[in-house]
Amino acid sequence: MRPRSCRNQVVSSTNEKYDQSILAARTMDVERLRMDFPLLATGDEAERPIYLDSACQTLRPKSVMEAMYDYYSSFPACAGRSTHRLATEVAIRCDDVRDKTASFFGAADPAEIAFLKNATEGLNTVIFGCGLTRGDEVLTTDYEHNSVHVPLIHAEQEVGIKRRTVPSLLEGTFDLEAFERMISRRVKLVAICQTSNVTGYTLPVKDVIEIAHEYGAKVLLDAAQAAPSMRLEVGALGVDYAVASAHKMLGPSGVGFFYASKELSAALKPLSYGGHGVTGTTLDSYELLPPPERFEAGLQNYSGIIGAGAAIDYLERVGLEDIADHEVSLNKRMTRKLMDIPSLEILDPHDPNLRRGILAFNVEGVPSHDVAIILDHSRNIMLRSGMLCCHSLFEARRLEGCVRASAYLYNTVAEIDEFTQAVEDIAGRL
Ligand code: ALA
Repeated sequence: MRPRSCRNQVVSSTNEKYDQSILAARTMDVERLRMDFPLLATGDEAERPIYLDSACQTLRPKSVMEAMYDYYSSFPACAGRSTHRLATEVAIRCDDVRDKTASFFGAADPAEIAFLKNATEGLNTVIFGCGLTRGDEVLTTDYEHNSVHVPLIHAEQEVGIKRRTVPSLLEGTFDLEAFERMISRRVKLVAICQTSNVTGYTLPVKDVIEIAHEYGAKVLLDAAQAAPSMRLEVGALGVDYAVASAHKMLGPSGVGFFYASKELSAALKPLSYGGHGVTGTTLDSYELLPPPERFEAGLQNYSGIIGAGAAIDYLERVGLEDIADHEVSLNKRMTRKLMDIPSLEILDPHDPNLRRGILAFNVEGVPSHDVAIILDHSRNIMLRSGMLCCHSLFEARRLEGCVRASAYLYNTVAEIDEFTQAVEDIAGRL
């Protein structure tokens, strides 16, 4: 029997104390939301950074930090082991987060959700644990982040799988016809991102899943770049496995959301083994706990999980559709302002409606890191440059890298205008 909760005795949730999202949600009042983010709300306005690196990781609202602080200050114990009240509180809190994560991602059963270190760990869990053997084909794409690409190459070398890559079309969109030509009964797994972290393009994953299933293949979906502003609905999509990372969704770094459908999770091997993932051991044997705990061996990142729950609360309050609309409207503005500069090239697809909050570009003759450093040092603008952990996409497009601006719910039109003016200044100097 689980010991009684100490929720009311120990914890006074401070999530709502500072949270302007409660007031701003209905209208997506960006100025009000910004008050929740210390970096955007404190200090001298002129000194405030223009943060356009949310595809790398988003800023965190105070409610997330407060939730994490609550854990360390009020119930800093370990779940699933000790029977005292503090430990029980942690277990209850983590169960709550599991429930809300399941509902956020549209999973029918919270037992289909595990908390891992990040999306990468979930991708590795499936690639090495789903039973692929020598000669099995895995179909993937040239959009993939190294977190899909590298474990697949490793599985090719170590397990002997055959890896095949669907090339994207010249205009930057997914080639569904090529995918249909390449799929066959030999394909056991399709490993695919939902949204490219480089260009922001969202792939037609519903079609991909349907086609893959017609051929008996399972689908592993890397939803890390889609989840911050898109309703995933794993159950309705019928996807087999999916991953996302809290750090791209207002949550802490070090927490990954992992979905494995009920039908498949019991046959999936964990990536690591140890305490908590087992019901018991003898000197010579062990028995795994049922999913999801079997995937969560070792002491967990409890403050991170609880912080991730506060991030989901925040996203739900503001509303994913409003966030997506805001991202695209900012992207339309930056695209419109930059698209006619002759020395600037936007990574396709060109249409900002297809790129969520992301605009990746190059300025002719200026290495991408130089553009990023100039923007930081001269205008206090933070963004990412280089190959964005996605070297294969750049290789396929014969590019040495790019500069990536990624807008999110707290960015303003004024910030976008400052950014585009700064880029025009760099490009105009050539
Ligand atoms: N995947 C992260 C990015 O796109 C790190 O920047």
